[in-house]
Amino acid sequence: MKMAILGYGVVGSGAYEVLTKAGYPVKRVLDIRPHAELGDVLTMNFDDILHDDEIGIVAEAIGGLSASYAFVSKALAAGKHVVTSNKHLVCHYYRELRELAAKNGVMLRFTSSAGGGIPWLYNLKRCVRCDRIEKVMGILNGTTNFILDAMIRDGRRFDEALSEAQRLGYAEANPSADIDGNDVARKIAISANIAFNTVVSEEMVLTFGLRNFRKSDLAYVSEKFGRTVRYLGYGARVGEGIALFVEPTLILPDSLEANVGKNNNMISLFGEVVGRLAFYGQGAGKYPTGLSLAQDMIDIYNGATAYLYEPEEVTVDNGAYRRKYFIRTKAQTPFDFYDHVDRVGDVSYIVTREISVAEMHDAAHLLLEEDADSFFAGFEPQPD
Ligand code: HSE
Repeated sequence: MKMAILGYGVVGSGAYEVLTKAGYPVKRVLDIRPHAELGDVLTMNFDDILHDDEIGIVAEAIGGLSASYAFVSKALAAGKHVVTSNKHLVCHYYRELRELAAKNGVMLRFTSSAGGGIPWLYNLKRCVRCDRIEKVMGILNGTTNFILDAMIRDGRRFDEALSEAQRLGYAEANPSADIDGNDVARKIAISANIAFNTVVSEEMVLTFGLRNFRKSDLAYVSEKFGRTVRYLGYGARVGEGIALFVEPTLILPDSLEANVGKNNNMISLFGEVVGRLAFYGQGAGKYPTGLSLAQDMIDIYNGATAYLYEPEEVTVDNGAYRRKYFIRTKAQTPFDFYDHVDRVGDVSYIVTREISVAEMHDAAHLLLEEDADSFFAGFEPQPD
């Protein structure tokens, strides 16, 4: 069986180099740009791959939704295994592509779509076979972690740190996906689909961005609460359903997350049987993500079979997950869940009682209307 890679950008070229160096047969690479180093392997016509019976594994690393969806669905329908690093595609078309793969007796793998180079989804999936996952939680965006680390360790300002993340190539072309949380929301939706054997969409993930975080917030939470800050995604069983959210979070300085530096990611699963397992490494980049894409291809090449479960209907209930929050705002209207308010000039620093994630996000909309710079962060409870 031979392999093909769709897209010769950052991830596709990384996967190609990893695979060819290790001696795996990549017969074709599809790209719209010329790449002399690829010689006859390069094609600009997808039909050269679709109609080649020798090619049984197709890796998609084009990104976006339209071309990637057309190629991936055609490849699955033609009985080819598909591997993708495209979180947008996996989030948007999970149910449909999963069904198409099952109907055609082929595999759909997407380990590199959440966690980049970290074999997170692969191991999450293995755990689900014989354990009940209670929670997934962690740092799933390198850009925001790089910004926080630069602010905390080097005293940089938010905007300086963001510019540096862009210069180093960590940030998405439009960094809003990073600093407003959509990137993490997608990765949490994909992780929740595996952890809870269901199909949720990124729209179900309540998301509050990091863009309003300031050095003065860091100084305040550090002095008053002995906490530091990380930007975390959560998927957790609660009541009869699950909660899905992305928030700046106040954590203890000796926690694992607080010690994740630079643009690294770290995500944990909490299994009823296994307890906590944490996975750390590079969540993006040519070789980490390219290698993870290649690993999925090699698994299939070596005969791996799919773990097929029918997805279950799970209720997303962000009203059931409760915790305390820190808020910094100039908005005057108080909420009845404020527990403690500290005024410094025209700024209020607030600690809430335990409230639900949904209540906090609803309140944030109103706070932002009055003061567009308002910021909040959830208190991660002390571990038992
Ligand atoms: N912009 C993303 C990050 C890339 O910073 O983690 C990987 O999805």
